[in-house]
Amino acid sequence: MKQLQFPMFPDSKTMIIYLTIFCLVIPIFLFLLTGKKSSQKLPPGSLGFPLIGESLSLLRAMRSNTAEEWVEKRMRKYGAISKLSLFGKPTVLIGGKSGNKLIFSGDGGVISNQQNDSLRAILGESNLLELSGEDHKRVRNALASFLKPECLRQYVGKMDEEIRGHIKMHWQGRHEVTVLPLMKTLTFNIVCSLLFGLEQGMRRERMIEWFQVLIGGVWSIPINFPFTRYNQSRRASRRIQEMLKELLDEKRVELEEKGGCSANQDLITCLLSLRNEENEVILTDKEIVHNIMLVMVAGFDTSSVLITFMMRFLANNSTVYSAVLQEQEEIARSKKSGELLTWEDLAKMKYTWRVALETLRLVAPIFGGFRKAMNDIEFGGYVIPKGWQIFWASPVTHLDDTIFRDPLKFDPNRFENQASIPPYCFVGFGGGPRICPGNEFARVETLVTIHYLITQFTWRLLLDDHFIRDPMPTPTKGMPIKICPRETSMVL
Ligand code: HEM
Repeated sequence: MKQLQFPMFPDSKTMIIYLTIFCLVIPIFLFLLTGKKSSQKLPPGSLGFPLIGESLSLLRAMRSNTAEEWVEKRMRKYGAISKLSLFGKPTVLIGGKSGNKLIFSGDGGVISNQQNDSLRAILGESNLLELSGEDHKRVRNALASFLKPECLRQYVGKMDEEIRGHIKMHWQGRHEVTVLPLMKTLTFNIVCSLLFGLEQGMRRERMIEWFQVLIGGVWSIPINFPFTRYNQSRRASRRIQEMLKELLDEKRVELEEKGGCSANQDLITCLLSLRNEENEVILTDKEIVHNIMLVMVAGFDTSSVLITFMMRFLANNSTVYSAVLQEQEEIARSKKSGELLTWEDLAKMKYTWRVALETLRLVAPIFGGFRKAMNDIEFGGYVIPKGWQIFWASPVTHLDDTIFRDPLKFDPNRFENQASIPPYCFVGFGGGPRICPGNEFARVETLVTIHYLITQFTWRLLLDDHFIRDPMPTPTKGMPIKICPRETSMVL
């Protein structure tokens, strides 16, 4: 039988046919394959210029208070996921309920927390925002041991004294005050005394000055030339860290002299005294310093902004104002003259807290944040490549009319039944394992401050004060108001 044989070397005619097929079909095949892959893979959008990308456009929008529109425009153009370059990194912006769910619940697995390079360089690489897994748990538990409600209830009286002292010094006897700088002074002093045990004086004064410079560089392009915001912020950070190291050494000596941490101690002393089962320190000095920096940034600017904007909304909404006043006066009437507020009093301030939450929904101090993809992640039919930055922004759900009806209306009653708000939609304090551990602390200082202000003064805005984001919402003139003492005000 004649065997069928394939020629080892095809003749020239066959060779030409093979080559033609190869030259025509393979490129078409490759084109289809890669074309399909790239449209399936990377989200729409453009990475733009290296390093700068869309950073300047976002920062410009923040400073002109159009950041919400900036995000909305992208969402309308590209959908719930799009690619861009922010602060020197390839990034995807994701939004909506499912985007927030991925951000806030995927932590430690497919995504890890990672803020922009500027923030890391400024706060230090051991701050909680940079840690994940076991390290995050260990450091977070250490902070939470001080910030949890059972511990905070002991500090309501101390906070109350600090706030009364502030009002006496900066509000009483005045006709006009500028709210934002005063609230910054107040929340900075609260953080200094309750968290750091740092008494009034030169050190506090210098510290607040440096912190203002530091915060200016938190959302900046990491270009380290003299006079860039980033460079100034890093220099301020170095100075603060040196001061904090000194403070740590002093507290350690005090702790050794006293032979342990007692109740009513500050956060630094508590962190220094924490030990594991083997009696080893839980946090290194570097971790303590970097996390104090974080708590300071996270704690003083956010609450001051919340209280300022609450006062702005109260000035513009007489019905809401009357309801808050009624709630606070009832509590004031139940107290003896000069008696400090208690944890139980705060539990009665339900409506006032709804006003705070509605303020956070409309003017969230934290506009958004960053994460990092630990693997390729599929989302909305696209792939977020491993190593890319993921950016979330709070207005995406806060201003979504399918979640919050009539979203631009200031209506605290929408928080009456918080269970009716779908999960991952109100993210003023974030969500999941990284939800703000300072939210109870912020609640206490906000409620106590509003209690004393509304029961002692009436106020009206002196200007229709526009605000910018720098990166925190900031009324351009600091929000000057006219104040009048209320006849029924409590005696201090
Ligand atoms: C109105 C006041 C506050 C607001 C609106 C606020 C908001 C937030 C948000 C949105 C996050 C999550 C960021 C993210 O997931 O990317 C966060 C985290 C954090 N906040 Fe707050 N915060 C406030 C007050 C405070 C206070 C008073 C403290 C400390 C005393 C604090 C300490 C922290 C810390 C340490 C984190 C990082 C948590 C982690 O990564 O596990 N915050 N905050």
